[in-house]
Amino acid sequence: MTLGAKPTAPGEIPATTRRVTAPMLHQYKRQGQRIVMITAYDATFARLADESGADVVLVGDSLGMVIQGHPHTLEVTLDHMCYHARCVRRAVQRAHLVVDLPFMSYQISAEQALMSAGRLVQEGGAEAVKLEGGGRAEAVRKIVQAGIPVMGHLGLTPQSVHEFGGFRVQGREDAAAERLRQDALQLQEAGAYSVVLEGIPAALARQISQSLAIPTIGIGAGVGCDGQVLVMQDLLGLDDRFKPRFVKRFAELAGVVRDAFAEYGREVREGKFPGSEHSFSGGGPANPAGSESAAE
Ligand code: KIV
Repeated sequence: MTLGAKPTAPGEIPATTRRVTAPMLHQYKRQGQRIVMITAYDATFARLADESGADVVLVGDSLGMVIQGHPHTLEVTLDHMCYHARCVRRAVQRAHLVVDLPFMSYQISAEQALMSAGRLVQEGGAEAVKLEGGGRAEAVRKIVQAGIPVMGHLGLTPQSVHEFGGFRVQGREDAAAERLRQDALQLQEAGAYSVVLEGIPAALARQISQSLAIPTIGIGAGVGCDGQVLVMQDLLGLDDRFKPRFVKRFAELAGVVRDAFAEYGREVREGKFPGSEHSFSGGGPANPAGSESAAE
């Protein structure tokens, strides 16, 4: 197998311009190279994530919260996921593109799971799909047999928010921790090529990561995972009302964006924008030959 990734120093952006693939993520784990995953839901931010050198772009069903404004992800449909995946697909050139199977698109039967995964690939351009929860071995097997890589997702799985009674850290008690260990092994045995560990104690996430051959990608699961994922809006600080413990803001864009909108509003109201440099000549008796392109 020829793989495009050569090991990088910690913190270095992988030099390869080749597409990142599911098998390459295994190679990353074997080489101790941490995996960087960022969510995206539209072409503009997907292009920026791709250009930043992210290994994986995830079209997450978190779009139910950060795009649609719901308090959870449960109202997201397969049609929504296909639409956002298509938007992101057009912009991502290098990163591996993973798309979430939304609530009730895979829980009914393995056949339903395969049909839904197939739509994300055919209509959304996904290179892999992600599904939540333990006990999904049959669905994972069915999808993988069809040639579609499956990423698992364990721990604080947001589609189970009502079962958990809120967005609560999972796996703190011994029995729950043991169940997560077993679920992770079962996912690997069923053919999953990676697994997201969300909202679990760091020591447990490290233990699970060490016990698996497939890479783990953590969110709120400590540094012992093989990679990390954050929701784009969280890491950019686009919502300054939301700052859970597991999020680090790498920018504070909410204020920047609000100030830019306000400045635009002020200039419009004061008649300062658009200036002559933003306006086109011609069309009147003074200069009938004007021919600027609107993009200039
Ligand atoms: O939906 C999502 O964005 C996710 C990540 C937070 C892992 O599942």
